Amino acid sequence: MRVSSTTQAPPDTGADTIAVGVFEGEGIAHDVDGILQAMVDSGEARPGVRKVAVTHAGGRRYILAGLGKRDEFDAETARLAAGAVAGRAKELGTNSLCWELPHHVDAPGFVEGTLLAAYEYRAYKTGDDDGRRIDELIVSAHHDIADDVAYATAVAEAANACRDLQNAPSNEMTPSRLAARARELEGVTVEVWGREQIEAAGMGAFAAVARGTDEEPQLITIRYDPPDVAGPVLGFVGKGVTFDTGGISIKPAMKMSEMKFDMSGAAAVLEATGAIARLGLPVRVVTVIGATENMLSGHSTKPGDIVRAKTGTTIEILNTDAEGRLVLADCLAHAIDQGAERLIDLATLTGAIVTALGNTYAGLFGSDDEWSTQVEDAGKRAGELVWRFPLHREYDELIKSGYADIANAVEARKAGSITAAQFLRRFTGDVPWVHLDIAGTANDNGKPYTPKGGAGFGVRLLVELARANAGAPDLH
Ligand code: BES
Ligand code: MN
Ligand code: ZN
Repeated sequence: MRVSSTTQAPPDTGADTIAVGVFEGEGIAHDVDGILQAMVDSGEARPGVRKVAVTHAGGRRYILAGLGKRDEFDAETARLAAGAVAGRAKELGTNSLCWELPHHVDAPGFVEGTLLAAYEYRAYKTGDDDGRRIDELIVSAHHDIADDVAYATAVAEAANACRDLQNAPSNEMTPSRLAARARELEGVTVEVWGREQIEAAGMGAFAAVARGTDEEPQLITIRYDPPDVAGPVLGFVGKGVTFDTGGISIKPAMKMSEMKFDMSGAAAVLEATGAIARLGLPVRVVTVIGATENMLSGHSTKPGDIVRAKTGTTIEILNTDAEGRLVLADCLAHAIDQGAERLIDLATLTGAIVTALGNTYAGLFGSDDEWSTQVEDAGKRAGELVWRFPLHREYDELIKSGYADIANAVEARKAGSITAAQFLRRFTGDVPWVHLDIAGTANDNGKPYTPKGGAGFGVRLLVELARANAGAPDLH
C-alpha cells in the first residue's frame, strides 16, 4: 500500500473513499451539504469505537468511523477505528482511501491500524481471491504530518514483514531462510554462523538443541552502526526456533502446527532492526538470532544429557522441550561479547505465560528497574503492552540440578515463566537485561487489526525503544 500525507482537503485528493471520524457528542467538522451530519443525527453513524457507517456525498464514498469519547481517545483507539475502516473499505472495493485526520489528534495510530488490518498472507492460496485491495492511503490534515506518517508507515510495514516471516510454514521458513532475510536488510551488516562455528565457539547449549535436525542452525548477528552516535549499544536477541516439536520430550499432536510460530521473537528483532536502519535512527543496535529447528532424530539430545554453555555454565537438559532458554543462553552471552550494553530478548518461551496473561500482555522480566521501566513505557507508547513479573534468587532453587550447575526445566509445575527467565538471568552478567515472553501475544492474539496468525508483536515496541535511546548525534 502506498502511504502519503497531504494538506489538501480529502475531496481534492482523488481518493474514491474518505474516512471521517465521529467523536461522541461532537459534530462533523467538514461536512458535504449536511449529509454526514445527517448520518450522525439519524443514528446511522455511531460514535462507538469500531462502528462504521457508509454513505455517498459529493461524488465520493464516505465511511464514518466511531472514535468514542474524545477524552478517552488514544493511539490504540485510532488503530481500532482505522482497522475497522480498512476492513469495510476492502469489502467495498476501495482502491484509494483518504483518512481525514480529526483535529487535535495524532496520525500514527490511523496509519498503523490501516496497514496492519489490510495485511493478508496469501502466499499459498490459489484461487478464491476477490482481488480487492486498498492500494493507497492518504492522510489529510491541516498541518504537515509527513514525518509522523513516514515513521508509522515504516513501523507498520516492518510489523507486516515480521508477520510474513511468522506465517510462512516451517518447511519454507528454515533457519537459512531467516538468515537470507537478514541479508536483505539495507544499511546493516550481517554475519551468519552455521553448525560448525556454533560448536567451535563453545555454544554447547544452542548446539544441543540443533543436534536433532538436518537443517543447518544459524547464529545470525546483525549490526546497525551509524557513525558518530552517542547512547548505549542496544542488544536485541530473538528466539528463532523455526519449528518446535519438543524434541525427545515430544509435544502432543494437537495444535503442534502452531509451533511454526516459535521463531516469532527472531522475526520481531530482525524486522525491527531493519526498520530502525531504514529510519536512520541515531542509535547503535546489535541483533542476535539463534535459529534452529527442535527435532527428534538419532542425533537428538536426550533428557538427562549435560551440556556446557559458552559462558562455561553446565546445564542438565531435563526436558528437551525447554529448548528456547538453551538457545537464548548462548545468544545472550554472544550479544554481550558483541558489545551490547542494554539487552532485550523476545521469545515465545513458555506456555505458562499464556495461562497467566492471555493474549493482552507479554510478560516482562528484568534485572534492572530503569531498563525495565523504559521497555514498559515504550510498549505503552507503541500499543504493545507488557506486564512485569518478579525475579528472585529463591527461584534459583527450582532450577537446581543434581548433576550440573543448573537444570533447564522444573519438574514441579511451579512458576514456569519465572523460572525460565531466572535461567536466562544466569547468562546476562552485569548488563541491564529485559526478557519478554511473547508466547501469548506473538500470534492469534485476537486483536481486531491482527486477529489471526502472526501479529508482528514486538516490532513497534523495539523501534520505539530505539527511538527513546537514540542519542543526539555526536558531532565532536
Ligand atoms: N515454544 C514453547 C512455548 C510455547 C508454548 C509457545 C505454547 C507458544 C505456545 C517452549 O519451547 C516450550 O515448549 N516450553 C515448555 C517449557 C517446559 C517444558 C518447561 C512449556 O512452556 O511447556
Ligand atoms: Mn519447546
Ligand atoms: Zn519453543
